[in-house]
Amino acid sequence: MGATAQPRRVADATDRRPGSSVAEILLATRNREAAMSRLLMGFITTGLIFMLFPGTLLGVWNLLQISGRESVGLISPAWLQAHGHAQVFGWIGSFLLGIGFYSIPKLRGSGTRVIRAAWVCWTIWTIGVAVRWAATVYLWQWRVLVPASGILELIAFLTFFSIVSQHRPKDSSEKALEPWVWVVMSATMGFLLAVIANLAGSFYVALRGASPAFPHSFDQRYLALLGWGFLVPFIWGFSAKWMRVFLGLKPLRPKILFSAVLLNLAGVALAITGNFRLATWCLLVAAGVSIAAIRIFEASEQKAKIRGIHRSFPLFVRVAYGWLLVAALLGVAASLWDTSGGIWGASRHALTVGFVAVMVLSVGQRILPAFAGMRLLWSPKLMFVGLVSLTAGCSLRVSCEVLAYQGYANWAWLVLPVSALVELAALSVFTTNMLCTFVLQPSHAVNEPMSVGISQVVALSNPR
Ligand code: HEM
Repeated sequence: MGATAQPRRVADATDRRPGSSVAEILLATRNREAAMSRLLMGFITTGLIFMLFPGTLLGVWNLLQISGRESVGLISPAWLQAHGHAQVFGWIGSFLLGIGFYSIPKLRGSGTRVIRAAWVCWTIWTIGVAVRWAATVYLWQWRVLVPASGILELIAFLTFFSIVSQHRPKDSSEKALEPWVWVVMSATMGFLLAVIANLAGSFYVALRGASPAFPHSFDQRYLALLGWGFLVPFIWGFSAKWMRVFLGLKPLRPKILFSAVLLNLAGVALAITGNFRLATWCLLVAAGVSIAAIRIFEASEQKAKIRGIHRSFPLFVRVAYGWLLVAALLGVAASLWDTSGGIWGASRHALTVGFVAVMVLSVGQRILPAFAGMRLLWSPKLMFVGLVSLTAGCSLRVSCEVLAYQGYANWAWLVLPVSALVELAALSVFTTNMLCTFVLQPSHAVNEPMSVGISQVVALSNPR
């Protein structure tokens, strides 16, 4: 992952093997770029499918059941966890693997070997996540299939990791790595640990459990690792890499960002050892320090790059960071006052929907069309509709989850199903916009005489 977003260069003199003409090299490079874009679209489409059906539809169904019975305790924990797994591994995991492969720098020739291995990784990952969901929901042969799916996910992750780590930029050993690379590497380690913890939990329930659901105390610790050890540092790393350019922010403060990462790691470690009260304070301070480092709420130095997307993009990136703070604050509140799981649940969704999903809807629609063969986003207006409705749905969900679950206001049970449907609509709009971009928008890369790298793609699609 350290190589993420390094430009893939047009073949240079060192690419020239005896007998290969410049035209052949350029053709091979163009074919390779097209194959990489197809690979990226494969991962993104799979992620969208996991997000919408096994993830969001099951999440909505769970919330309708919880609201109908006015209790989360009466719902199958296996179904709650199947939803969480589909969202985090199926959606975000597939997106990250796809972007990671796409970002491999300086592949030579047609890159066939790497691209084939990446498709193998996609196949194993997709089967692993799909089997896990199906076995957890339908309970068919789950004692065998749940650990088997965990093994498949680990194999897929290790395949990805070995390919990406073999293709570091040529000069990375001479130059110090940029700060964002370290942050993304720490997030990649968090991803690996999450995959391993999932496998360990899967074996435990297969051997000792009465159902495929992880025991509550293990699940609480595992969720802290997923949310704060894996998802959050990825977004910090990509923010450190891109937000200065996209939002015209003032320069990153690297040392402060490293402090945020360390505090965050301490918070995750404390949560894993069961010290939630101290952990949540650490995570709150880490969130605040990351905001100071990335300078997301400071006035921009330059104009934001919003050509081809909706002009509200910079606002929603900041809204996402606002949700990060809300999630961390609710975490502290949960460690002090939660009696029902409602404040923990609200904190979790402020993080996963408010921070992670709002960020994916903002930055994803900003970069993925360009990565997928220099396309333009199908509809900037739909981007806005998706983001507004996701923010509205998340606000209703987070506030009413606390009020309803904790028994502070009975009317809030009636609002929760509405919040779920609004979030479902938002995520469906996002999926439609991305799929229409892939299918209906022409690829401008096809007519380009030479390949361009990620930096050039971003610059070309946004000359402002
Ligand atoms: C329409 C949107 C969504 C709905 C209606 C929804 C609903 C739910 C519900 C009802 C729960 C059970 C716990 C609770 O009451 O809080 C839950 C748990 C969870 N959700 Fe969501 N969710 C949505 C979106 C997401 C997204 C986008 C993510 C991640 C990116 C996510 C990740 C999780 C996780 C990790 C859990 C914890 C599962 C466990 O207990 O192990 N959810 N969700």
